[in-house]
This record gives sequence, structure tokens and C-alpha cells, in this order.
Amino acid sequence: MELHFTDGDCYEEKFNSRIYLETYYLFPSGHLQEGEYLPFFLKNMVKAFSSGPKIHTLLEIGCGPCLHSALCASEYVEEIVVTDYVSNNRREIELWLQNDPGAFDWSPFTKFVCELEGNRKQWAEKEKKLRDSIKQVLMCDIHQSNPLYPVELEPVDCLLTSLCLEAACKDKTAYCNALRNVTSLLKPGGVLIMAGVLNETFYKVNEYVFSCLTFDRVFLEKALKEVGYEIEQFETFTGPDKSVNTLSDFEAAFFLVAHKHKNV
Ligand SMILES: C[S@@+](CC[C@H](N)C(=O)[O-])C[C@H]1O[C@@H](n2cnc3c(N)ncnc32)[C@H](O)[C@@H]1O
Repeated sequence: MELHFTDGDCYEEKFNSRIYLETYYLFPSGHLQEGEYLPFFLKNMVKAFSSGPKIHTLLEIGCGPCLHSALCASEYVEEIVVTDYVSNNRREIELWLQNDPGAFDWSPFTKFVCELEGNRKQWAEKEKKLRDSIKQVLMCDIHQSNPLYPVELEPVDCLLTSLCLEAACKDKTAYCNALRNVTSLLKPGGVLIMAGVLNETFYKVNEYVFSCLTFDRVFLEKALKEVGYEIEQFETFTGPDKSVNTLSDFEAAFFLVAHKHKNV
């Protein structure tokens, strides 16, 4: 199916943050058609943070209305900045930060992450810790040379992103440029933690079809190396049979950890 590219304006107008959450982030099932994607993601994320050194600053690119990634990082990071293009997504995050009764309930995720870390009872403290560690919620456009413009941020120790670049880029050239743009926000020697999908052409939110840039592992590894990363871990999860998944058509999901070369 040849799809119309869904650009930033389209995201701002059509991306329904709450329905996205209710479709893909009801834990533990996520969306049932996507199988065990969420446990795959969360287990890898917790392992990456718990086995690495303590991190002072972390920047999440294209977080959407989601906090599950920042949640996995919160125990190991002092300061977190989360960013997204869409104003309603940033509003969802702000609602949760303000403890608003209408905010999305992330507690099933918090409990699961605490369980992975061996202390399920500490979930309320973990949520408090996450609220305290998120210092800013910013607008970001990965197509700008400074994706946070007009904000200037000191390069961070860790860059985190999931399912964003493939959703936001029209073609492979745009993807490589966006990767370069976001990498400029990371310190030399810093760590990139990235999750996403391979060979997906679309995903749906509220029956609206968003385009996705299709690429495979070979392309992704080459792009990362060209921008100056050394890949240390690359995990994949095979997607469900396309005949049972009507919400998206990813062939596999990936989770990777890479370091930016010190001289880049
Ligand atoms: C599939 S959602 C992923 C959200 C979340 N990271 C997750 O893992 O579920 C794609 C996200 O990319 C964001 N996005 C689209 N275009 C963007 C751009 N030009 N710059 C930054 N983010 C963008 C959207 O607002 C949306 O939140």
C-alpha cells in the first residue's frame, strides 16, 4: 500500500494522544495484536540502565504522550528532559507531572518496572522520583539542526528515543539527517538507547493511518555507524503475523544501545 507521508503538521492535527495511549499502552497487554512487545521493550530498557554507569543528564526525543521509557531510566539518572513535536502529547506528560486526576495511569508500568528491579513495593516512590527528575518538557523537531530550537541545551550523557525517527521521516536521507541532528545533542562518548520497528509501513491511531519509514537492520546499523556510533547491543523481537495485526505491520521491533565516538 503506497501511503501519504504524515508530516509534523499532520501529527499536530491528527495524532490523538489519549487514544494512542489507550490503544498501545494498556499494560500488560499493550495492544494484544502486538504480542509481547511491551515486556520485550521494558526488560531491555531496565537492563540497559541498571547495568550501565549512573547518568547525570538524559534527553528523550519524541516521547509522545508516554512516560514508560523515562520510568525505566529514573532510578539511574539525575535529570531528565522529555520532548515531543505534538503539543497534546506534551500536555499529557504535564498532566501526569502535576498529578492531575485526569492523567493517564502509568502505575501498572511502574509496578512492572519495580518488579524487574526487585522491589515491587516501591512503585509510589518511583513515580515521585520520576516526577522530581523530569526537569523540562520541550517541543522538538528532529528535522531542525538544533531539534530543540530556540532552546539551547548542554549536550547530554544519554539520548533515549523510541518509535520516533521512523515515524517522523519521509525517506532514508531525512532519517540520516535527523539522526545527525539528534546526535548533536549528545556528548562525545555518550550513550544512545533506541527502540523502534523494522520494515513497518504504517500504524493506526483512532483509525487514522500514520506512515512509517521502512528499513531493515542493515540500513540502521550503517546509518548509526556513519553518524559516529559504535553499536554495543542490538536485540530484535519478531512482530506478529500480519494477518492478525490490523493496527500496524511491523516485521520486527528492535532495541539497541550504542556509544557516540569520543572524537565526533
Ligand atoms: C509512534 S509515536 C512514538 C511515541 C513514543 N516515543 C512511543 O514509544 O510510543 C511517534 C512520535 O514521533 C513524534 N514526531 C513526529 N514528527 C516529529 C518530529 N518532526 N520531531 C520530533 N518528534 C516527532 C510524534 O509526535 C509522536 O509522538
